[in-house]
Amino acid sequence: MTAAATPRSLLALAAVLALAVSCLQAAAKGTRYTVGGADGWRVPPPEDKERFYADWAANITFYVDDSVEFVYRNDSVMKVGKAGYYHCNETAPDADAAAPRDGTTLFVLDAPGAAYFASADLAHCNMGQRLAVDVLADRAAPEPWAAPGPSAHHSAAAPPTYSAARAVALALAVGFV
Ligand SMILES: *[C@@H]1O[C@H](CO)[C@@H](O)[C@H](O)[C@H]1NC(C)=O
Ligand SMILES: *[C@@H]1O[C@H](CO)[C@@H](O)[C@H](O)[C@H]1NC(C)=O
Ligand SMILES: *[C@@H]1O[C@H](CO)[C@@H](O)[C@H](O)[C@H]1NC(C)=O
Repeated sequence: MTAAATPRSLLALAAVLALAVSCLQAAAKGTRYTVGGADGWRVPPPEDKERFYADWAANITFYVDDSVEFVYRNDSVMKVGKAGYYHCNETAPDADAAAPRDGTTLFVLDAPGAAYFASADLAHCNMGQRLAVDVLADRAAPEPWAAPGPSAHHSAAAPPTYSAARAVALALAVGFV
């Protein structure tokens, strides 16, 4: 009786474990980044105005399904277009979204390419409270440069991901000036 029960409970345990693993995989689909790290989302110090959030983003390679979390006090955040980012002239569609408050806002990076965010306070945006990130396609998708070839230089082939992201970040930083 006990001998027969053991395999069954092991099966149950295996089922529970399989479920737990699939839940973990679902939860771990993307990485969540807190914008600005411990500094959060705020008007950067004037001397770092041009670089503050560009430097933060330059250290991260963002992929589709990753998310960026903005933590702020008496402020706001909105997703803007490229012009809204560079010219700080895009206003929130409704006054409520622009109202300064304490909050946490999460945006899922759901498409590859550039994504832009800014404080809905145009003065804050002009003082450097804006973020541009370059989002790469799903990390699970095969990358063209990772394809095995007859003389693939795997170790040499890896850096372009980083360099490309860095080049974009630098280009965006230069665009500030
Ligand atoms: C980014 O990485 C560089 C080099 O590792 C480091 O010096 C810098 O503090 C990092 N910046 C941020 C904002 O994390
Ligand atoms: C909150 O922000 C608004 C607009 O930027 C400002 O007028 C107000 O003084 C701020 N309030 C506090 C408590 O900092
Ligand atoms: C912001 O300014 C740019 C450049 O002048 C312009 O192309 C764009 O239409 C403006 N956007 C808004 C919402 O005013």
